[in-house]
Order: sequence, then structure tokens, then C-alpha cells
Amino acid sequence: MSKQALWSGRFEGEMDGSTLKFTSSLDVDSALAFYDVMGSLAHVRMLKKQKILSAGDADEIIRGLLSIVSEMERREFEIDDSLEDIHTNIEFRLTSEIGPVGGRLHTGRSRNDQVAADLRMYLRDVILEAVIDLDSLAASLLKIAEDHGDTIMPGFTHMQHAQPVTLAQHVMAHVFRLSRDADRFFDAYDRMDRCPLGSAALAGTTYPIDRKMTAEALGFGSPTQNSMDSVSSRDNVLETVFCASMAAADMSSMCEELIVWSSQEFGFIEMDDAYTTGSSIMPQKKNPDIAELIRGRTGTVVGDLVSLMTMAKGLPLSYNRDLQEDKRPLMDSMKIISDSAHMLSKVISSMKINKDAMLAAVEKGFINATDLADYLVTRGIPFRDAHGIAGESVRYCIGSRKKLEDLTLDEFRKFSDSIDEDVYSILPVKACVERRRSYGGTSSGSVDVQITEAMGAVMERSERVRQETQLIENCWDDLLKEV
Ligand code: ARG
Repeated sequence: MSKQALWSGRFEGEMDGSTLKFTSSLDVDSALAFYDVMGSLAHVRMLKKQKILSAGDADEIIRGLLSIVSEMERREFEIDDSLEDIHTNIEFRLTSEIGPVGGRLHTGRSRNDQVAADLRMYLRDVILEAVIDLDSLAASLLKIAEDHGDTIMPGFTHMQHAQPVTLAQHVMAHVFRLSRDADRFFDAYDRMDRCPLGSAALAGTTYPIDRKMTAEALGFGSPTQNSMDSVSSRDNVLETVFCASMAAADMSSMCEELIVWSSQEFGFIEMDDAYTTGSSIMPQKKNPDIAELIRGRTGTVVGDLVSLMTMAKGLPLSYNRDLQEDKRPLMDSMKIISDSAHMLSKVISSMKINKDAMLAAVEKGFINATDLADYLVTRGIPFRDAHGIAGESVRYCIGSRKKLEDLTLDEFRKFSDSIDEDVYSILPVKACVERRRSYGGTSSGSVDVQITEAMGAVMERSERVRQETQLIENCWDDLLKEV
């Protein structure tokens, strides 16, 4: 059979080579090859059970598809550039292998529902991978939190010294962000968990197909509920890329800190030589390029999201070829966040943490001024007045080049006679930290609770990834059974 014969009946002339080149999706959808065959195996097994195909024809097709899978496993499956996409490539390969009976595979389906199903199988895998990668990054941060429950550093607002915190508390803030990023991916996963196969071109099909059977065979919770929606909606792709954008933004924000912290001005951390680069001209330089590239690539991921939103917004129902453009931004952004999480985890686990520089920094900037105000509140002074008194004390300290804890009791009493000797017990930064025992606060006890909760969430997700992976593997095993 000639390649053109796949669906050339209506055409008199041949397609121009430039049209093929322009419309081809092979450079991106080759990544869907395995899923495409799995979809076909589920479809043909269903056609057989429903007696839409004879058992003999169906079995021949199954054997043909299985041999294509082994070709793929041996990396011998050759992609033919003269066929416009992966679906056509596989169907053509099948027909050249088993003859015209291969042409019966496409009964009751279309490339429109086929690509939508392939894409959801792909989404499942990349989402599970992203969750694993984000959680291993979270695990590297959790390790730091466990080791640095008593490393005191300045907590910042507006990049100004605000209140003392522990490094553990700071790092845990990032852990909870990442934890939500991973949960968000699972939310998208759950909404996507329906199978579009059997929606056919747009309107369903006249054959007595069993969509529940194909959905189950491919490991989806249920079939999609409207055939037009199934072939034209890509909100699952969009949502996944939003999840990627959010994760990228969170990693980028972390990178921004790592870059600042490794500057000479801060010196809070030093990145390992293995994960830094040199300068071609300045011999002394050690540059935090990985962190900078993660921050920079966030722009690409957010750009991918914008591309997809723009692609989706003007499309009438149902399938339009514009939808082909969903794959590149999806694949691109998922690769970026997985690579980023991976590299960031290495940077973080190997960096040196300079506790002394953190402690030296915390001594500056009257970081315990809120604690003085809180102390005055315990003496019955309204917080607003206490704030004023503490502010005046700070102003006095700036003028006399002193720290709050250096003021004598007489000096303190110039601002309020409610201040007693015990003020000195609440001013050391260690006390500031340990007295913040509120749920979620920076005291070591509160941080321990955070660590336990976050670790529990990481473990729950890792169990869920294990279960989902197992479910998918079981489906593949069943579909790959010989006939
Ligand atoms: N390459 C196409 C895509 O990714 C596959 C579906 C093609 N359908 C069609 N009617 N041309 O969307």
C-alpha cells in the first residue's frame, strides 16, 4: 500500500512537500509513540469484545501492534518523516507489517480522540515525575531544616531586617510552597483522569463501542462525558502547565535568595564548586549559574502557559489544528521544571551554610524591636503606644550607636517607666526566636511540628505516586499480553 493511500481518496493531486513539512507534528508527538500503541491496543481489544471486528482480524492487529512495541523497545522503530504525525506512522507501520487488515484498527475512532487520549497518558507520567522531582527537592530542604533548628538568621520583609528567625523556619517556608506545588499537580491529575477515546472525530460513533472498557484498560477512572469537549479541550494541558509555572516561580524565588545569599555582601552560603561556574575574564569569580538559569527559564515556562492560553482562547468547537501546538509548550515546560528541581536539589544539598555570617547579620538592624514592643504590652501598655516607645528607643540607639540590648535600665526608662530588669531576658535574638511558639512560628518546637507535617505529606505523595505507577504498569502488562 502506498503511503498516500492512507486517506488520499478525496485528493486528485499530491500534497506539496512544504505543506507536509509545515503541518507535521512528528518532532513533538514522537514522544507519544508508546502511548499511541497502548491506546490502539485498548481500542482493538474493545472492538474485538464488542464484535465490531472479528476475533481473527483483531488478533492479527494485536500481534502487529505488539511487534511494533518490541521494535520500539529495541529502538528499531523508524519514524518516517513523509507521514505527518506519530499516529499515521504507527498505522502505516502496522499495515505494512500485517497487510490491509491493519486498516480496520481505525474503526470507530479518529486521530482527534486518539491524540487527546495519548496526551492524557503522557500527562499522567510527566505529572508523576514532576511530583517525584519536587518532593526530592523538598527532601533536600527538609534535611537542612532538621540540621538548622538553632541557626539564627534575619527574617526579612521588604528585604529589610524584620525579626529573627531560624534557617529551619525560612527553609520550611519553601518546603510548604513546594508541597502545595506537588499537591496542585495531583489536583490536575484527578481532574484529567477521564479517557477521551471513543469520542471519535467529534460526535461519537455509530459502532456499539464500550468506552468504559477502553478507559479502564488504559487506567483512567472513567470515560469523558461529551465527545466534542473531549476532542477540543486542552484545559488539562493548560492546568498542568500552570502547575509547572507555579512550581517554576517558587523555585525561581528560592534561586533568587540563593544568588543573593552567595554574594560577598551576604555570604550566608557558599555553593559547591561542582555546581558553579567560572568567569572567562575574572579569575576570582564563582558564579551561581544554575540558580540563575532556573530563574531565567521560569520566563520560558510562564511563556509556555501564555502560548497555550492564547492558543485556546479563540477556538470554536471542536477539533482545530491549532490544538497540535499544545505539545511543545507542555513538553518544554515539564522538562524545565523537572531538570530545575533536580539541579536545585543538588545545589542545596551540597552548599556550605555560614552560620556565623547569619548570626552576625542578625545582630544588625534592631531586629528585636518588636520584642521590646511586645514586652511593653505585657506591662499593660496598648500595642500602638508600645510600638511608639520601642521606635523612640531605636531612634535613640541609632543616635548613640548602641544596640537595644546595650541600653542601661535608666536609658530605657527615659522612654517608659514600665521597663524593668527582666527586659534583658527577652532581647537576645535566641529568646526572640524561642518565644515565637505560635503554630507555624519560628520557635524550635513550632518548626519541629512543621517538619513532621511536611514529611508526612511527602510520604503520602510518594505512596500515591507508587500506587498510580503500579496501576499504569498493570494496565500496560495486560494490554501487552499475547493473543
Ligand atoms: N497531529 C495532530 C495533533 O496533534 C493529530 C490530530 C490530527 N487531526 C486532524 N484532524 N488533522 O493535534
